[in-house]
Amino acid sequence: MTKIHLETDRLVLREWQDEDRKPFAQMNGDPMVMEYMPRRLDEDASGRLVDRFEKHFEKHGYGLYAAEAKETNEFMGFVGLNNVELDVPFKPAVEIAWRLSYEFWGHGYASEAAQGVLDHAMGALDISEIVSFTVYDNTRSIHVMEKIGLVHDEKGNFEYPRLPKGHPLAQHVLYRSAA
Ligand SMILES: CC(C)(COP(=O)(O)OP(=O)(O)OC[C@H]1O[C@@H](n2cnc3c(N)ncnc32)[C@H](O)[C@@H]1OP(=O)(O)O)[C@@H](O)C(=O)NCCC(=O)NCCS
Repeated sequence: MTKIHLETDRLVLREWQDEDRKPFAQMNGDPMVMEYMPRRLDEDASGRLVDRFEKHFEKHGYGLYAAEAKETNEFMGFVGLNNVELDVPFKPAVEIAWRLSYEFWGHGYASEAAQGVLDHAMGALDISEIVSFTVYDNTRSIHVMEKIGLVHDEKGNFEYPRLPKGHPLAQHVLYRSAA
């Protein structure tokens, strides 16, 4: 049985199943979904990412949850938590992150799931602060951050360390949960 971590009105947030790997790889190859990522992922790279998510669950007990639509049982993408491993000044930190297949955009699913995950993180998981970050012009993602009440830490904006200086996707905004 796949472990369910939380539910919202319309979504189930659970650990990963093998059946998720195919739609996840399709989504990671979609240029629209990957607009603000340095590159699209092929099937192997997408699979390695799921392996990493699974290791994170084993180690920390929480992670980037697979999001499933309650009504149809379709895999939608991920919304969840990740311990930041990047070389950034705001470490140690737990980030909230999301990526949904394009067909699920524009229905409020990301915000609904993100609110559930944030409440779970700061409640049941007792994590004192949650951060989120993205490319400075990823307005859809920033909108989700603001909708769930995260606050822009302007002094915390940073250049993504794994990209060359001056790369068009390097400049990131940092948001934090309100104290
Ligand atoms: C970021 C991402 C998850 C946002 O998806 P989204 O569909 O725009 O976000 P939401 O699910 O919150 O939907 C918001 C919009 O849905 C619409 N909507 C329709 N029905 C709705 C409902 N019942 N409730 C709320 N919003 C609804 C509204 O227009 C709403 O916008 P508004 O808040 O301005 O009214 C999505 O764009 C994505 O996966 N992007 C690629 C990955 C990515 O960039 N991730 C972050 C990088 S770190």
